[in-house]
Amino acid sequence: CVFSTGHHMCYHDNSLVSASLEALIQHLVPTVDYYPDRSYVFTFLLSSRLFLHPYELMTRVCHLCVEQQRSGDALLDKIRFREVAPKLVQLLTEWTETFPYDFRDERMMRCLKDMTHHVARGDEYSWRAMQQMTQRLIKRLSALGQYEEAVAALNTVAMERPASLKSKQASGQRSDVMSVCEDAFILAQQLTHIELDRLSFIGPEEFIQTFAMKDPLENHKRKTSNLEAYINWFNRLSYLVATEICMPVKKKHRARIIEFFIDVAQECFNIGNFNSLMAIITGMNMSPVSRLKKTWSKVNTDKFEILEHQMDPSSNFSNYRTALRGATQRSETAHSSQEKIVIPFFSLLIKDIYFLNEGCASRLPNGHINFEKLWELAKQVSEFLVWRQVICPFDRDRRVLQYLVTTPVFSEDELHLASYESEGPENNMEKDSRRSLR
Ligand SMILES: *[C@@H]1O[C@H](CO)[C@@H](O)[C@H](O)[C@H]1NC(C)=O
Repeated sequence: CVFSTGHHMCYHDNSLVSASLEALIQHLVPTVDYYPDRSYVFTFLLSSRLFLHPYELMTRVCHLCVEQQRSGDALLDKIRFREVAPKLVQLLTEWTETFPYDFRDERMMRCLKDMTHHVARGDEYSWRAMQQMTQRLIKRLSALGQYEEAVAALNTVAMERPASLKSKQASGQRSDVMSVCEDAFILAQQLTHIELDRLSFIGPEEFIQTFAMKDPLENHKRKTSNLEAYINWFNRLSYLVATEICMPVKKKHRARIIEFFIDVAQECFNIGNFNSLMAIITGMNMSPVSRLKKTWSKVNTDKFEILEHQMDPSSNFSNYRTALRGATQRSETAHSSQEKIVIPFFSLLIKDIYFLNEGCASRLPNGHINFEKLWELAKQVSEFLVWRQVICPFDRDRRVLQYLVTTPVFSEDELHLASYESEGPENNMEKDSRRSLR
C-alpha cells in the first residue's frame, strides 16, 4: 500500500486492489500534472454509486478540483485554474458521454452549470467545450425521453386486445406472421433491429443501479428503466412465438409456423443474435406449444434440437458461452458490420453481474473498498458497451417491425385455451385445467 495525498491506496502487480472511499474520490480529481487513467474513470464512475450518489461524487470532485488550486493569491489561483480547467472539462465530458442518464438528476445539471460558470472565468476554450458538452448531453437525454414515450405507446397498442383475438374461430381475420414476412432471414434481421435499438438505450450504470443504495431524494431524478423495457421485449417475443403457433386452426398450418420459427431461430444464431434465439426457443418450449404432440409429429425437429443444445442451461450454459465467445472473436476481427453483431442472451448477462455482486464483498474488513470487484464489474459491463454500439446493417422493413412490436399476443391463459382448441385435453389433468380456464 502507498500513502498518497494523505490516503492509503493498495496495489498488487501495479493494479489498484483497494483503497478508502476518500482516496478513490481524490484519485479521480485532475490536477495540473495529473489525470486519472481512462479505465479508472470508467470503473469508478460506474461503481461508485454503490457507495455514494453520483451527484455527491460530482460535487466533491468539482469542489476538490477548484479548492486544491487555491493558494490565497487571486492572480496565481486564476492562472492555476486555467491550467487545470481543460482536464476537468475532459473528465466531465467522459462522464456525460458514458453516463448521460446520471444527468437526469437536476442537482447534477445544476452542478454542471455552476462549473460552466466557473470555467468561463478561466479560459474561452474550456468554456466553449463545456457548452458543446452540455448541448450533446441535452440531446442524448431528449432522445431517451422520446424512446421512453415510444416504448410506452407501443405497449399501449400491444395491450389492446381486439375481440377477434379472444376466440380462435374469430381470429381468422388476424394476419399471422407469415402473411407479413415469409422469409426467415428477413424476419431475423428485423428482430436484430429491435434488439439493437433497445440495447442502444441501456445505460451501463443500469446494471449496477439495482444494487445501489436508494436515493432518499429520488424525486430529483427521473428513473431509467431501459433494462426492464428490454426484458419485456424478450417476454413479448416468446409469447408472440407461442401465440403464432397456437392460433392456426389447421394442424398443417401450425406445423408450418413451427418450422418457420425454427428457421428464424437458426438465422438469429448465424447473425449472433442470441437474445432473440433464446426468446424463440422459450416460446416453443412453453407448455401450450410443447403439448401439441400431433402438430410436432409433422415437424422435422433436427435443426431445433441442435439449437436447443446450443442454449442448453446445463453446466452453467457452457455451450452458449462457447458460442458467445466465438461470436465475440468474430466481432473483434470483423470486416463488415454484420460480422460485428453480438447480442447476448440478456437475462443471463444480468444474472452473471448479479451473482458477481452478491458473491463478493464491496468493502474489506478494514473499511476499504474492494476495488478488484469493481474492476470485474467494469469488465463485464464494458464488454456489453462494445456490443451495444454496433450499427444494424440490415434494411428496415417498417411493416414487419410494426407487426413484431405491436401485434397483440395471447396471455398465458389464452394460450392454454387456444392450445386445447387445437388439440383437445389428453388426460384428466388437462381436462381440469381447461375447465378452470373457461
Ligand atoms: C457461470 O459462468 C460465469 C462466466 O464464466 C461465471 O461468472 C459465473 O460465476 C458462473 N456461475 C456459476 C453459478 O458457476
